[in-house]
Amino acid sequence: MTTRHDIEQALRGVVDPELGGDVVELGMIKGIDLDGGTATITVALTIAGCPMRSQIEGDVKRKVGALPEVDTVTVEMGEMTQEERSEVMSKARFKAREDAEPTMVDPVTRVIAISSGKGGVGKSSVSVNLALALADQGFSVGLLDADIWGFSIPRMLGVGSARLEAADDAKIVPLEAKGLKLVSTGLLVDDEDKALMWRGLMLSKALQQFLTDVAWGSVDYLVVDMPPGTGDIQMALSRLLPQAEMVVVTTPQMTAQKVASRVADMARRSFMPVIGVIENMAGFTTPSGEHFKLFGEGGGRELADDLGVPLITSIPLDPYVVEGGDGGEPVVLAHPTSPAALAVTEGAKRVIELVPPAEDETCTARIDRLLSGLEAKAAAD
Ligand SMILES: Nc1ncnc2c1ncn2[C@@H]1O[C@H](COP(=O)(O)OP(=O)(O)O)[C@@H](O)[C@H]1O
Ligand SMILES: [Mg+2]
Repeated sequence: MTTRHDIEQALRGVVDPELGGDVVELGMIKGIDLDGGTATITVALTIAGCPMRSQIEGDVKRKVGALPEVDTVTVEMGEMTQEERSEVMSKARFKAREDAEPTMVDPVTRVIAISSGKGGVGKSSVSVNLALALADQGFSVGLLDADIWGFSIPRMLGVGSARLEAADDAKIVPLEAKGLKLVSTGLLVDDEDKALMWRGLMLSKALQQFLTDVAWGSVDYLVVDMPPGTGDIQMALSRLLPQAEMVVVTTPQMTAQKVASRVADMARRSFMPVIGVIENMAGFTTPSGEHFKLFGEGGGRELADDLGVPLITSIPLDPYVVEGGDGGEPVVLAHPTSPAALAVTEGAKRVIELVPPAEDETCTARIDRLLSGLEAKAAAD
């Protein structure tokens, strides 16, 4: 049964990107109420006109809405008193010092974990192409191949033989690959045998290294190609990056209900909200207009409905996807007007709508500007 405590745990995943802390520890949650399937969350913002308002509201809805038995989330927004405001600011500053070495991923970075209930559904192909499509929309994008021993991204981006290097501060610098910042085990090991050595390493430990020892810099989106399976790695990711959200990839023929229960379980254990479903290997239409449904139809829509999230896009079965993956020039680059590439681009735009990039002007920046304005005025008087 979902309790107030579960809701509070989920709210710990809502980060005020600028203050660099979660809304619970920053004292922004003024009330949690659970009545039947309706959760009412009262949030106090640093200032009422905070530009982060809709982002925080959306995040609260998604995180709490991902909990079992919660059907509706109502968010009531209020404003902090002057006293609360100074307290939250000093907490945020304290936290910034305390967390000096958490991960190298900016709290403002939107983290999208590409998951599935099952392997072979095209997770890696979707991750690569979605990351490229997000970059094409003008964002700075990182791509983390978290499939530690099943890595395939370097080959897909045509950089299979490249190696990562360390900067002066011993941090690993992501590889620039087709405009993306890429990190993968495949860029660390020289041969398959060495890759096997990584098997000895706990998956979550390896993931942690990729987040703490890599100089990601400022990226708007970090796309994470998750390994198959639904357990520890998801939990590790959400512990390390509480802002992480999940996109589920499925094929049309998979039994939606079976996948849905697995995914819901994964989301519940990791507190990672599912933002939507991407259907891959859907039916395709030949240039002459013939429509083929090799792997059935409708599984993506059904899964999305079962999970109560949007169907982000449906990517058709397309030989260009295979060719692009094998040839190191993914379909969105090699054949941008092919049906598969267009579907991916549409998906990227939808993802941007669902998890908008953190806004440039943030609350503290605004307070700062207000204060310096007042100071300048006082000086002039
Ligand atoms: N939309 C698609 N059309 C045709 N082939 C695809 C499509 N998506 C993926 N594939 C192919 O399916 C295989 C598995 O894809 P991959 O991305 O490696 O899956 P996963 O990461 O889930 O194991 C690859 O050979 C890939 O080229
Ligand atoms: Mg894969």
